[in-house]
Amino acid sequence: MPHDYVEEELGRRSVFKSEQFLSIDYVPEALPHRELELRTLAQSFKTLITTPGRTSQRFIIEGPVGTGKTAVAKRFTEQMVQAAERRGIHLHKLHINCRINKSEYLVYLRMLREFKPKFPRRGHSPEELLQMLVEVLDVEDRYLLLILDELDYFINQRGGNILYDLTRLMDDRLNAPQRLSMIAVGRNIPLDGDVLDSSILSTLQRNLMRFERYSSEALYAILEDRVKIAFENDAIMDETLQVISDIASEHGDARYAIELLWRAGKQADRNRVKIVIPDYARQAKVDTHPELRKEIFATLPIHNKLVLLAAARQLKEVRSAYVTMGEVEEMYRAVCEEYGEEPRAHTQVWEWVQNLNAHGVLDTKRSGAGQRGQTTLIGFSDVPAEMLERFLMELLK
Ligand SMILES: Nc1ncnc2c1ncn2[C@@H]1O[C@H](COP(=O)(O)OP(=O)(O)O)[C@@H](O)[C@H]1O
Ligand SMILES: [Mg+2]
Repeated sequence: MPHDYVEEELGRRSVFKSEQFLSIDYVPEALPHRELELRTLAQSFKTLITTPGRTSQRFIIEGPVGTGKTAVAKRFTEQMVQAAERRGIHLHKLHINCRINKSEYLVYLRMLREFKPKFPRRGHSPEELLQMLVEVLDVEDRYLLLILDELDYFINQRGGNILYDLTRLMDDRLNAPQRLSMIAVGRNIPLDGDVLDSSILSTLQRNLMRFERYSSEALYAILEDRVKIAFENDAIMDETLQVISDIASEHGDARYAIELLWRAGKQADRNRVKIVIPDYARQAKVDTHPELRKEIFATLPIHNKLVLLAAARQLKEVRSAYVTMGEVEEMYRAVCEEYGEEPRAHTQVWEWVQNLNAHGVLDTKRSGAGQRGQTTLIGFSDVPAEMLERFLMELLK
């Protein structure tokens, strides 16, 4: 009999009961340590249900990666929709990731398509899309609660006009029902006095909530819930959870904590043991880094990855906090050769570096005059260069 790899894999015992509960998109029912934030949102938005159409609400949620911003926004809007439904109000929620929908046009199209799924992709201006959206909401007597997620990326690229447009859309309708409310989410959202007039600005600033990093205890509570649904009974040692909470509390990042938990479980499966010991968590820490988020890097065009790889290699080589633009370009040409790609011109590379900076992937600063001449310096604030190099080479495979 030939070896049956499929049967073997199917018959293999795993420490996981339901791995999908550890995916980044899963939003648990309960969100420990965010009760206050959820209550604040409920207090602000309840008028959408008690007096539908009378007011529109806008809110900003800011905070570092992995502090539960997206999870809270999604769980909250879900509860709003259900409460509205029980009272016969047609409230819709819509979560838009502004890092993926990169222009006003795409965001507005996504909004309109929520109600007109087949609406054509081309042929209208952004303003027309918004106007049509308002019409649909009016005609069908619906309300929309919008989450603009990762809006900081968007505003860094395209400015704050989107906030202006959407706020105006609400404020211009003094005698008609208010149909649109929104929650803007980001690490920090640059509120620019040039774009937003002062009344819009002050409303937004009043409704701003900052999510703080999770403590080790908070992360422990979050993981404890997740372990119950994702793992077999007694598969995770208490010490393992403790170690993960401590490691991840350096960044206060629940996403990182959950990733460590998942990786530690994977290690147990690879070793064919039924218990996830603390050492697997420590090993997972060595293999991963909270800033290296696949969903950001995977969507970058190949030459952006090559520039990053060049910067990582150069940083590793010179062992200083920053390298010059010139050094990175030289390394970039070598890297292109290695990957069989034609290197692009200086102005193009320069633009990518600015772009990657705007996305928070790398840091740039001007060198002080004298030291190394006036040039742009490139560095990574958080990630060890060697780890970034390995990560990128893996992605470029
Ligand atoms: N209070 C919490 N309780 C349970 N899970 C949480 C909590 N906060 C965050 N998470 C989980 O951690 C991960 C990261 O949270 P997320 O909301 O995506 O963070 P952010 O949007 O701030 O980067 C998600 O998988 C989320 O479900
Ligand atoms: Mg998020």
